[in-house]
Amino acid sequence: MATPTSICIAGTGLHVPERILTNVDLERFVDTSDEWITSRTGIKQRHISSAQEPCSLLGAEAAKRALADAGMSPEQVTHVLMATFTPDTFIPSASYSLRSRLGIPRGMAMDISAACTGFLFGLETARALVTVHPEAVVLVVGSEVVTSRINWEDRGTCVLFGDGAGAAVIASGPAPGGATIVDVILDGDSSLGELLTVRGGGSAAPLCPGDRIGDDFFVQMQGREIFKHAVRSMNTVVRKLLDRQNLSVADIDMIIPHQANIRIIESLIKKLEFSEEKVYINIASYGNTSAASIPIALAEAREKSLIPEGSKVILTSFGGGLNWGAALLQF
Ligand code: ACO
Repeated sequence: MATPTSICIAGTGLHVPERILTNVDLERFVDTSDEWITSRTGIKQRHISSAQEPCSLLGAEAAKRALADAGMSPEQVTHVLMATFTPDTFIPSASYSLRSRLGIPRGMAMDISAACTGFLFGLETARALVTVHPEAVVLVVGSEVVTSRINWEDRGTCVLFGDGAGAAVIASGPAPGGATIVDVILDGDSSLGELLTVRGGGSAAPLCPGDRIGDDFFVQMQGREIFKHAVRSMNTVVRKLLDRQNLSVADIDMIIPHQANIRIIESLIKKLEFSEEKVYINIASYGNTSAASIPIALAEAREKSLIPEGSKVILTSFGGGLNWGAALLQF
């Protein structure tokens, strides 16, 4: 079996629900204001799924675009990796629901549960699969209906999140117009797990027939602590990646960070001494879409032709777990 010379992102795509909820809309039923949300987070609006738009549907639409971008058809996909914490159902998994929607008949499919860093976990897993099976075509999807786990009575969290999906097709290179995945570093610290939780309905907090759904069914977090760890961990992992590749910050053409809070992104850029013009930011339009945030931003930056051939791009993310990571792409 030949080892692939390079492992590439051959195509990317995104899909978000049509319905938009602006900060001004939120003012009508949450004790908040456009001014507070904009100044504290950078978010102006988010897309919200209807009951007819579950996680697998958003993911399938993004995947169709990624496959079209790669010039491939669903029948060519050998593996599906679906990063989400809001699957349509627990069994079958979201990756199987997505596979049915796309008509991908057979092959390995699995969900990845790593919150907002899930897409990077998917990229690294895809790299491993293509290394072992050079003929593999791996669909990596980050798709979330975060609003299905949002308590609209908790103003500290409900204003932050949105729904959407992004996808990438990973295969042996070269991929014309695509990117080589040069390196990925993933890390995490389970002792910080209490800072961001979704407990209710899990086997440690089971629901019985007739039970009232409690606050723990929804995203709960200690925002300030998360903020500090997010900046620290992304700064550390990006520097580690640069060191490992003998690169300096000046060698990087674009950073695409997880879109959780504009102030987190600004603090990260400052710590890295990176230029803000070279950071891709779309949080104003989508809010925090968790595992979909990075692939949506990557697909959008490519659709806007903002990543010329020859560019070195860093993806970096953090999420509940806590976990974090970074990837280096060579376009
Ligand atoms: N509207 C108006 N006021 C609000 C709102 C709101 N939506 N939310 C909180 N407040 C109030 C609080 O009640 C508090 O009032 P008080 O001073 O009278 O008590 C005040 O604003 C300040 O609250 P803080 O929580 O201290 O505000 P902070 O400046 O820390 O911003 C925020 C909160 C935006 C959540 C910030 O901490 C943050 O972004 N943290 C990171 C969160 C994050 O990225 N989470 C995603 C993790 S990724 C994943 O895995 C899902």
